[in-house]
Amino acid sequence: MKTLRVGVIGCGNISVMHLDSIAAFEEAQLVAVCDIKPDRAEKTAKKYNTKAYTDYKQMLAEAQLDAVHICLPHYLHVPVACDAFEAGVHVLSEKPMSIRYEDAVRAVELAEKKGMHYGVIFQCRYNTPSQLVKQRITDGSLGAVKCGRTTLTWYRPDNYYDKSDWKGTWDKEGGGVIIDQAIHSLDLANWMIGSEPVEVQSSLHNRNHEIMVVEDSAEGLIKYKNGALLSFFAMNNFLVDEPIEIRLICEHGKAIFSYDKATIEYHDGRIETVDNQTPDVLKNSGGKDYWGFQHAAQVKQFYNAVRGIEPLDISGKEALKIQKIICDIYQNNDSPFQAK
Ligand SMILES: NC(=O)c1ccc[n+]([C@@H]2O[C@H](COP(=O)([O-])OP(=O)(O)OC[C@H]3O[C@@H](n4cnc5c(N)ncnc54)[C@H](O)[C@@H]3O)[C@@H](O)[C@H]2O)c1
Repeated sequence: MKTLRVGVIGCGNISVMHLDSIAAFEEAQLVAVCDIKPDRAEKTAKKYNTKAYTDYKQMLAEAQLDAVHICLPHYLHVPVACDAFEAGVHVLSEKPMSIRYEDAVRAVELAEKKGMHYGVIFQCRYNTPSQLVKQRITDGSLGAVKCGRTTLTWYRPDNYYDKSDWKGTWDKEGGGVIIDQAIHSLDLANWMIGSEPVEVQSSLHNRNHEIMVVEDSAEGLIKYKNGALLSFFAMNNFLVDEPIEIRLICEHGKAIFSYDKATIEYHDGRIETVDNQTPDVLKNSGGKDYWGFQHAAQVKQFYNAVRGIEPLDISGKEALKIQKIICDIYQNNDSPFQAK
């Protein structure tokens, strides 16, 4: 079967998780990388023995790519994905799909029209505990989620935002703790619930950041068509990164996630505990603990889809579900704090 010719656009923090995944898989060959900062593009190209570009449009035109990984600031995800689709190139985009729901819909429609695969990274779904709990919900042993809560208490001080030329801004990041950090736990809980949200309530605040304008604190409630309720609390003022917690109260028991472990307590007294299994591929990539290590699993699944072996798990259409929730959280903010 054909080896895919792939490229990576954006050689910042997260790119190592993509680059090391590509390097580990024989299904794909890294033929180009691109960063608008020439030193980053060159350094990455040298490390991975490939060609450097500083203009992604030139890369799309020249490099005869089958697929690109998009590792860019949020506001660039949709425009770059659409340029790739127009060039006949499949896309695996970092989360979030977009900072605006309508733009994400437009990208999904274009991918469908051009017959391109559009994958969106939500690597936490590939954690061993996530897979197990989802299976126990769908096979009926745990049964449907009746209510849940997600809690994220992390620390992103002013200098975290100061170092970045796009984080902490409405126009480039599209928000703060919700769109960047809590998006993963909200996606996991929403995926587990598996029903359609009918109402999203939220209160957003910037309680403790001087130099950035987006929210650092958020809480709210999501109501689902099947009656399930999901409450959330997220903030970046905790001084340390405590493990994310998700609690799901189900028909036949409850599932409790803490960081990347989960415990299932059934009503009949049985207890199942599961730890995440870290794949060897990314153990030494220098990634952050709180990203987890499952990018490799999702990259491989995306390649399988592009090569026609299996359907794409987290397609653009699937990712629109959490994208809509995220955008509704900003849209429906009922605090005096202005989400622009
Ligand atoms: N899945 C996860 O757990 C996870 C974790 C961290 C980051 N991310 C996501 O990854 C994406 C990138 O985040 P990051 O922390 O790596 O950001 P970053 O700022 O470190 O990297 C972005 C890179 O894009 C480059 N860039 C900007 N404009 C460009 C353009 N027009 N053409 C080419 N390159 C350009 C920048 O120079 C920079 O090197 C974001 O969407 C972020 O939310 C995901």
